[in-house]
Amino acid sequence: LSTTEVDLSVVALGQQIKVMWQGKPVFVRHRTPDEISRAQRDDYATLKDPQHDADRIVQEDGQPGRAEWLILQANCTHLGCVPTFVEGSQYGGWFCPCHGSDYDTSGRIRRGPAPKNLLIAPYVFMNDTSIRIG
Ligand code: FES
Repeated sequence: LSTTEVDLSVVALGQQIKVMWQGKPVFVRHRTPDEISRAQRDDYATLKDPQHDADRIVQEDGQPGRAEWLILQANCTHLGCVPTFVEGSQYGGWFCPCHGSDYDTSGRIRRGPAPKNLLIAPYVFMNDTSIRIG
């Protein structure tokens, strides 16, 4: 399938699901207010791959997304392992166990060998409770 539809109603606040899109894993994360404010605050941190959080939730059609929904291609930008979300980690987001890359609550690379932020999957809201990826 070239597109994947996701029912957001099954993803509780502060949780994520992993779905497959074109054979690749995608994280659909329902961010808490704390995760969102941390991501926005870190827009001004020293970033290896500088990008504002608001630019990472834009839908594929250019419309703004919703800050509580972060749609990430799940492969580490180093060598492609799938990182794990770690509550309470230093940068609050995902840790890649293969070689120790740390991503923040926007999926931006903050430490470790990965060169780039986790990629945003192309997505659009179909209605209030579902998105289409691809
Ligand atoms: Fe993730 Fe190397 S594949 S740090």
